[in-house]
Amino acid sequence: MKAVQFAEHGDADVIEYDEYPTPEPDDDEVLVDVKAGALNHLDVWTRRGLPGLDLEMPHVPGSDAAGVVAAVGADVSRFAPGDHVAVWSGIATGDDEFTRKGDPTLSRSFKVIGEHLPGVHSEYATLPAENLVPVPDDVPWETAAAAPLVFGTAWRMLVSRGDVTAGESVLVLGASGGVGHAAVQIADHAGAEVYATASSEEKLDYARDCGAAHVCNYEEERFATWIREETDGRGVDVVVDHVGEETWEDSLKCLAPGGRLLTCGATTGPNAETNVNRVFWSQLEIIGSTMATPGEAETVLELVWDGTFEPRIRETLPMSETGRAHELLENREGFGKVVVIPDSEL
Ligand SMILES: NC(=O)c1ccc[n+]([C@@H]2O[C@H](COP(=O)([O-])OP(=O)(O)OC[C@H]3O[C@@H](n4cnc5c(N)ncnc54)[C@H](OP(=O)(O)O)[C@@H]3O)[C@@H](O)[C@H]2O)c1
Repeated sequence: MKAVQFAEHGDADVIEYDEYPTPEPDDDEVLVDVKAGALNHLDVWTRRGLPGLDLEMPHVPGSDAAGVVAAVGADVSRFAPGDHVAVWSGIATGDDEFTRKGDPTLSRSFKVIGEHLPGVHSEYATLPAENLVPVPDDVPWETAAAAPLVFGTAWRMLVSRGDVTAGESVLVLGASGGVGHAAVQIADHAGAEVYATASSEEKLDYARDCGAAHVCNYEEERFATWIREETDGRGVDVVVDHVGEETWEDSLKCLAPGGRLLTCGATTGPNAETNVNRVFWSQLEIIGSTMATPGEAETVLELVWDGTFEPRIRETLPMSETGRAHELLENREGFGKVVVIPDSEL
């Protein structure tokens, strides 16, 4: 089969689309005939290399994909050949206090398919049955591939961890990215008043379309000043910040007393400055969140399949152009998700 792969870390030009052994499912695994994959910023980090990440090379990247079940292992009863499925890429193999209480994301054994383990941007992929989510037959492959990681992550961050409720005000930074545009939709669905930032007017129009009532081009206006003006000096109840170092201090400044800063990422770097006085005096909460439990993922994906939420597709490319797909994310071109399709499916 053909698979996206790289034999060393580096720039996007290390990515190749070449022959790779077709995997065979173990007893608890499912062989998926991949119809579409989607990119996450994680694919960029993994390709560049991360501290402590020691991958067997060549590495097949990709955490998001959807396709048809081609075969199942002897112990799999939940799926049968012909079923439509999407990948849920979080996996914990350890037996510890967190896996026992049903929260694998907190386990030391937690890993992400595509990051720590071989990924799914290939013509076929084998996955443990518990890493697959059923997809109704009428859901387009692009939607099924693009939704899981970002909607799962945003759902846990805003709903389970952040407890966003109707009537609250929520500022979403980087609203044009995968996580960002999912967060806007989820906050709006929760009944919150949504404020969003992005780097161009075109991206802001899309953010409005996703449910943002107030938008700010942070390249032209400091977003902390904008939030103070928009809220008559009060600030917002919740800030969603996956940008990191560049925005952290201003994110804290945007919070109303008692506000919550939700974080799942640090695209611009992890070493942000925190004014500790501001945190205790205004009684702020800083809440970290990573991925989702399989249950959280299934809950939010039901709302994607029924059309409540929609992953917006910025571009669809053949898998042989995955290098270009990485560049779209790195150069911040477009709004929403980038999808890659096996060349043989085009
Ligand atoms: N912890 C978890 O479980 C988890 C899960 C998913 C993602 N993440 C992390 O969350 C972050 C976002 O992921 P994603 O897949 O949504 O990424 P993405 O689709 O590439 O979106 C990133 C967005 O951040 C904004 N941004 C602001 N400053 C930026 C800068 N200096 N460089 C690049 N982008 C900048 C960009 O929007 P504008 O151009 O409009 O500013 C861009 O659209 C990443 O750091 C990722 O690793 C973590």
